[in-house]
Amino acid sequence: MKMDKVAGSGNDEFYTPTYAVKPILKYVRPKSTIWCPFDDERSHFVKELRKDGHTVIPTHIFEGIDFFNCNVPECDYIISNPPYSKKTEVLQQLFDIGRPFAMLLGVVGLFESQRRFEMFANNDFEVLYFNRRVAYFKDYGEQKPSLNPPFSSVYLCSKMLPKQIMFEEVDRTKEAA
Ligand SMILES: C[S@@+](CC[C@H](N)C(=O)[O-])C[C@H]1O[C@@H](n2cnc3c(N)ncnc32)[C@H](O)[C@@H]1O
Repeated sequence: MKMDKVAGSGNDEFYTPTYAVKPILKYVRPKSTIWCPFDDERSHFVKELRKDGHTVIPTHIFEGIDFFNCNVPECDYIISNPPYSKKTEVLQQLFDIGRPFAMLLGVVGLFESQRRFEMFANNDFEVLYFNRRVAYFKDYGEQKPSLNPPFSSVYLCSKMLPKQIMFEEVDRTKEAA
């Protein structure tokens, strides 16, 4: 699928900066339990959500826990930046699980696949847009995110936002490495 190739390099190893986690925090109820299924302890999702007072359960394929083949932990939300190369399968699985979720994804081509079209037509979802593009870390040791994709990222959510399309500002100057 052409657009999917444009929107993802095929390499799923890039990591989310703090400033891209912050906009979703206000949509999470206090003291929630959150599953981050594509994250380990280094993830800024894990760190920011914990800092905000939530209980976080990080799991990752590198630690032998495959999102597609594991028991879903007891949780109120599922929040992360998933592997873009598997975004259709990830979203389908999340809709099937049925818990509120927020996934940070490249918006290019997101609505341009027949399979996703049907998935979005048949499920409740919301989109959170940013004023700026998100840059990503190549590895967690980087001082500043160095990967600048040529497309915008959005949170594709379900049962999390009060309106179907919402907008939040990101402050890229506030990145604490
Ligand atoms: C785009 S990266 C984002 C990492 C982290 N969530 C963050 O935002 O910093 C997606 C991660 O999902 C991992 N991954 C790929 N397939 C997976 C699977 N089936 N189950 C769990 N993790 C997986 C990749 O190895 C990669 O580290």
